[in-house]
Amino acid sequence: MKRPVAMLAATAHAVPTRVFTNDDFASIGVETSDEWIRERTGIGQRYIAGEGETLTSLCTEAARKAMAMAGVTAAELDLIILGTASPDRLLPATAVEVQAALGASRAAAFDLDAACSGWLYSCQVAEGLIATGSYETILVIGGEVLSRIINWRDRNTCVLFGDGAGATIIRRSTKQRGILSAYMRSDGTLADLLQRPKGAGACPMTNEILAEGSHFITMAGREVFKNAVRSMADAADRALDGAKLSSTDVDLLIPHQANIRIIEATAKHANIPMEKVFVNVDRYGNTSAASIPIALSEAQAQGRVKEGSTVMFVAFGAGFTWGSMIVRF
Ligand code: ACO
Repeated sequence: MKRPVAMLAATAHAVPTRVFTNDDFASIGVETSDEWIRERTGIGQRYIAGEGETLTSLCTEAARKAMAMAGVTAAELDLIILGTASPDRLLPATAVEVQAALGASRAAAFDLDAACSGWLYSCQVAEGLIATGSYETILVIGGEVLSRIINWRDRNTCVLFGDGAGATIIRRSTKQRGILSAYMRSDGTLADLLQRPKGAGACPMTNEILAEGSHFITMAGREVFKNAVRSMADAADRALDGAKLSSTDVDLLIPHQANIRIIEATAKHANIPMEKVFVNVDRYGNTSAASIPIALSEAQAQGRVKEGSTVMFVAFGAGFTWGSMIVRF
């Protein structure tokens, strides 16, 4: 029997209403500047969740838009996979809260934590399940409310991240398009370089942990930078090899939006000119698992991804996790 093809049928996104600019850090006493942040990261602003805005609400909004675009009803969803590192609750998974909000009564639902690689990993899991023939329509979401797990007193990290969600409908298809190559890797020996050290199972929450803030994200910035550049370059090579394509066959590169310097280094290594690279880190910051689907949603809305386009996705995140995918739309 021929292996079913998985198509990315539609992608949409949602962000909180509040925009937080680089200049706004002065108002909360963080010693930084617009110039420092732009020069080192390319970030100019990010969206930050306010009261009543949660991972569930952002993911549900993005999912509803994607479902409307694809013409898919909640009853048609077989599965919901939510890539996230910032769930609304530690138990149960936020994916089941999205399932309830959508009324997707037939769907199974689970969270997948691969940090910034969460959407990319989730798409590849969805593709594998569609290939078994048992699943037809899967909602894959990358969503984060990182503003609630970053230390707003730590200028090394708090300037980098933003909140948002991107949702993709992945469907079985008979057309010879879809995911042409898929690659995932991880290296847990480097887990300490980007982590939330305490406050969970191995080191349960105490007043001391709360006071020192060691339940928030900590990061060895330079080490993360070096590993991100190396791993994303490797992932780009693997994507092209896997699809038996060369860089000139790629119409658009959509990398994880962490930092403009990491994006430029990845594009350079892959021999893809910056005109063929989608960048929106300036307006969203690093939204972790949400960054690629938000970028894809914008790229499609701008007509930069259309029927027949060949798009390469490359991600890297805490773990470390990384990977890539080439999709023909
Ligand atoms: N504003 C002003 N100064 C700052 C800030 C800030 N927000 N943050 C740090 N500094 C200071 C430091 O204290 C240091 O000062 P010192 O020399 O007096 O000690 C100085 O700036 C230089 O700090 P470095 O860490 O050496 O700066 P670097 O050029 O490495 O840039 C950065 C830091 C932007 C974090 C960089 O290392 C980076 O981008 N790393 C990748 C991190 C990343 O993207 N993480 C996201 C998660 S993983 C992923 O999504 C890929």
